[in-house]
Amino acid sequence: MSSDITASAAWQALQTNHRTVAPLHLRQLFAEDPARGRELTVQVADLHIDYSKHRVTRETLRLLVDLARAAGVPQRRDEMYSGKHINTSEDRAVGHIALRLPVGEQLDIDGTDADAAVHDVLRRMGEFADSVRSGAWRGATGERITTVVNIGIGGSDLGPDMVYRALRHYADPEIEARFVSNVDPADLVSKLAGLDPARTLFIVASKTFSTLETLTNATAARRWLVAALGEDAVAKHFVAVSTNAERVAAFGIDTAHMFGFWDWVGGRYSVDSAIGLSVMVTIGKERFGEFLSGMHAVDRHFASEPLESNGPVLLAMLGVWYSNFFGAESRVVLPYSNDMARFPAYLQQLTMESNGKSVRADGTPVTSSTGEIFWGEPGTNGQHAFYQLLHQGTRLIPADFVGFARSTDDLPTRDGTGSMQDILMSNLLAQTKVLAFGKTAEEIAAEGTDPKLVPHKVMPGNRPSTTIMAPELTPSTMGQLIALYEHQVFVEGIIWGIDSFDQWGVELGKQQALALMPLLSGSENPESVGDSSTDALIEWYRARRR
Ligand code: F6P
Repeated sequence: MSSDITASAAWQALQTNHRTVAPLHLRQLFAEDPARGRELTVQVADLHIDYSKHRVTRETLRLLVDLARAAGVPQRRDEMYSGKHINTSEDRAVGHIALRLPVGEQLDIDGTDADAAVHDVLRRMGEFADSVRSGAWRGATGERITTVVNIGIGGSDLGPDMVYRALRHYADPEIEARFVSNVDPADLVSKLAGLDPARTLFIVASKTFSTLETLTNATAARRWLVAALGEDAVAKHFVAVSTNAERVAAFGIDTAHMFGFWDWVGGRYSVDSAIGLSVMVTIGKERFGEFLSGMHAVDRHFASEPLESNGPVLLAMLGVWYSNFFGAESRVVLPYSNDMARFPAYLQQLTMESNGKSVRADGTPVTSSTGEIFWGEPGTNGQHAFYQLLHQGTRLIPADFVGFARSTDDLPTRDGTGSMQDILMSNLLAQTKVLAFGKTAEEIAAEGTDPKLVPHKVMPGNRPSTTIMAPELTPSTMGQLIALYEHQVFVEGIIWGIDSFDQWGVELGKQQALALMPLLSGSENPESVGDSSTDALIEWYRARRR
């Protein structure tokens, strides 16, 4: 029986503290502690993180760190760094930190040199990426490859797709990457539109190589290629990324063209494994190396920094503070970077597949809510869509703002006196300020506002946010941001006592879809599938399907 963290003295101390802090306004917290804007910040590698606009006092922060200690965060973290099987329900180590170890740093996982295995695969990936980029690798008809199509889903898609888009500036303009994930044929068909099979390389990315969507899309893509170039062309146009060589071979991809990884890399933690091959092909192995170094810099910080100044720990504990003490339902992630448009979607899998659990690692029910819901869109677009609710709605939604000092594509403003990046960043700062401090009825009335309108214009403020600033969106800072969130998710999972590295909840739906397929196509006709709603929907569908 794992201990119930909500029964701990540390949790109860936070409950008491919450009663004092919840009624306080951020205006008051800043007035009483003017240094907090400069002091409640933390540097994590190149990331400057301001967490002063949170509804905490310094005492709250101390108590949150006490809770982290009481839950055993340092021990669990060290267990991860020593290759222990902390994914208990699957009896696996959790080794994504090994994927970004520099040469010379060692990590033993399950009695093997994980670092050596990682560097071996990275070397092979690098050789392959070089050969595609240089044109040494040619398609079956001797053409250069100009498009790589990654076929994968979940962790085998979201990470590479998000990073490729974010690092647009670093990609070879001669090689485009496209990402196919959905089993809706619209995805594959639209992504193949306009492509020349002779110049297209497919990367079939699947940890298990058994995922229905991926195998279905890969089979359809293979047919498309074979129809144009013949069966013999497959070897030059299909490579695989997987942990399962047997299934790769059974699919018809030569395992000499397979890039492996290991069961100790969770799908949602795998963008820095061979799953990142499409990214490496487009940005090159050196830039991919910088991406890994960025992640490693944050891993070092997480491993060694005292909890009081440990960025991932502090942000995770603030997540716990709002989820469990304020009852917040979600956290909004707002990258002020158009190129990071897929970052919130990427983080959704990371946090929700990791921490959406109702039982603790030992199978006993949790006694607090778990699993933050992440959502978001890039700024400034979101400002013209859903920020109204953030500012004046009834829900408390803590926000993470992510911004950069320099834009990779700066353009002048209309009058030429400033840069569009300044407009973007002034919006970020304005939003964090308005969320925190708002505008009172008195201030609004003092402007001569029609009294009937005053209540509509009141900006309550007291809405918390974290501001994460980086000098520029580079491979390194992209890696740093990912690792920052990976470790937050882990720390939250430790607090809740859950296994953040399994995902049993996705299995039943997969099984039932397989069972329903022959009913939809009409090849099986049982009287009932066991519930009248699904029976009626099947009937409706079958009456209309093509
Ligand atoms: O369905 C969930 C999941 O198992 C994810 O955890 C994973 O990222 C995704 O499916 C894809 O799995 P695979 O890489 O094995 O195809």
